[in-house]
Amino acid sequence: QPKTTVVIPPKSVDLDEPDDGKRVTVFFGTQTGTAEGFAKALVDEAKARYSDVNFRTVDLDDYAAEDEIYEEKLKKEKLAIFCVATYGDGEPTDNAARFYKWFTETLETSGEDKGPWLSELQFAVFGLGNRQYEHFNKVAKLVDEKLALYGANRLVDLGLGDDDQCIEDDFTAWKEGLWPTLDTILNEFNEPTTPSAAYTASIPEYRVEIHEPETQLHQETYNAKMNGVAHYDAHHPCKSMVAVRRELHTSLSDRSCIHLEFDIAGTGVSYEAGDHVGVFAENYIEYVEEAARLLRQPLDLVFSLHTDDKLGDPLTGGGASLPAPFSGPVTLETALTRYADLLSPPKKSVLTILANYAEDKDEQDRLKHLASLVGKEEYNQYVVKDQRTLLEVMSDFPSVKLPLGVFFAGVAPRLQPRFYSISSSPKVAPTRIHVTCALVLGASATGKVYRGVCSTWMKSASPAEENPETPTWAPIFVRTSNFRLPADPKTPVVMVGPGTGLAPFRGFLQERAALLDMGQVLGPAMLFFGCRTRKQDYIYEEELADFVRKGAVSELIVAFSREGQNKEYVQHKLTEQASTVWTHLKNGGYLYVCGDAKGMAKDVHRTLHTIIQEQESVESSKAEAIVKQMQLDGRYQRDVW
Ligand code: 2AM
Repeated sequence: QPKTTVVIPPKSVDLDEPDDGKRVTVFFGTQTGTAEGFAKALVDEAKARYSDVNFRTVDLDDYAAEDEIYEEKLKKEKLAIFCVATYGDGEPTDNAARFYKWFTETLETSGEDKGPWLSELQFAVFGLGNRQYEHFNKVAKLVDEKLALYGANRLVDLGLGDDDQCIEDDFTAWKEGLWPTLDTILNEFNEPTTPSAAYTASIPEYRVEIHEPETQLHQETYNAKMNGVAHYDAHHPCKSMVAVRRELHTSLSDRSCIHLEFDIAGTGVSYEAGDHVGVFAENYIEYVEEAARLLRQPLDLVFSLHTDDKLGDPLTGGGASLPAPFSGPVTLETALTRYADLLSPPKKSVLTILANYAEDKDEQDRLKHLASLVGKEEYNQYVVKDQRTLLEVMSDFPSVKLPLGVFFAGVAPRLQPRFYSISSSPKVAPTRIHVTCALVLGASATGKVYRGVCSTWMKSASPAEENPETPTWAPIFVRTSNFRLPADPKTPVVMVGPGTGLAPFRGFLQERAALLDMGQVLGPAMLFFGCRTRKQDYIYEEELADFVRKGAVSELIVAFSREGQNKEYVQHKLTEQASTVWTHLKNGGYLYVCGDAKGMAKDVHRTLHTIIQEQESVESSKAEAIVKQMQLDGRYQRDVW
């Protein structure tokens, strides 16, 4: 019988409890929950090792309501561990943004020299990032650097987790370095009988209640209550109908790009051109059916999930998981459709859980091996390189009989919202949020068809204009960004956005067209767009031509990558236009880049550097300094993914 633990929900920590030297705070900056999961796993393990020490996880946002309080509280900490993620263009996660700005910028620029004000603090930082991106672990690096600068004592080297490889292994390796140091510091508080006790992670599990089929379902009450909060965010999304859906590629294209409009009339949702919209999509029905089959349960099973304090494991204290994703009874179909991430590659900790429930000994051994450090290479091949989804792995191990409560608590991650750059302006579409979304569809390394969750959902959405009675809906919310047109419309702008990177610029151009209608005088605007061929994927072609006619864009330059002999990309066009581009930027103009971070944005960045070097006849280092300054001044903005 496998060892199971019912997890209690994280208690709201009393942040003001006195620190008698036996307290360790593990801060997390998390976007999709990975950093939070790491922080909690660290605390679980630490609690098992140091029974007398009070370990707690703290969301950086919840720690302090104001900057001064951050300062006051941090001064009282003796030992702090940070698990912080970097995402997008070297940015902190939403929940770490305020702390990060204060800690790495405000403190520096306030002019007041505080001296080594954190000299009482001992710290360790683990970063979650991806080496494919330009600003690998920028947030963790800066936090680590500033902590040391303010006098705190670094316990172990900064851990650089790389999500492109196996970030769990990076975390495990970093922890291995941390324990001996913590042993030295903490064991004086610890019972001598339990130093560094061998640790096995508990398996998170919700208690499951099965209901009569006619029970009132959570979704029904949820829908009615959903709209009516004053502020919408990821925890309080707004139920929004899909009003319009259309295909943007022509029939000659073998790919698909969807234009979708969410109706926000009367909801109180507002946005600005350049913002992002977070969308909670639904899983494709075939995957939902497959998941139910693997769980050996019917889709119409009505159940609810519960966390019960009294069942918490006395050793670890539970808390390794979040509160249940839904509070009332739902059908298994709804639970799998809306709340479970069925397609992401399973982490090693998930394989360990599957091993616990495998009835066949060989399957169990194989799963354990894949999850072990020895099996690192095989895990890399089988899960990472072969891009196996959770469902594929589960179907490879048919003897695994997972209880529903374990599946939702520890195996399937929570389905996360997907973010899109909004492709409209509220000046033109005040009651709509437009999205421009490329369909993610392809063969995985194992030869199976891979479908992106949200783009697949968008492609098959049934909009109100076609289906007024029961249009498709989704919970959505707006995430404010810094991607903004200059305050003065006369300032020149240069926009670079191939493919769906065009999205925010369509919003910008709507904005500029509206300003023109209001009689404003506009500065020059260059738009560099790129696609394969004019006849396949030149999205919004007519609208762009209208913007040109109207004067919202002064120069539209398109790179067709598959029309001629050679690939023509936006950066080649930028080089051709180097002198005009640089004249605009030199005159205080703004440069915007939107789209793929790993390829396009990197190449455009290099091109900008070269243009400056050539146009200004300066050394590479001087050109770099000019680029840096543009970024600091907010005149080089990127919205990349
Ligand atoms: P390709 O697919 O023909 O290589 C939108 O996706 C456009 O961006 C396509 O024309 C695509 O060209 C192009 N593209 C692909 N990689 C790019 C890169 N590194 N820099 C700029 N454009 C790129």
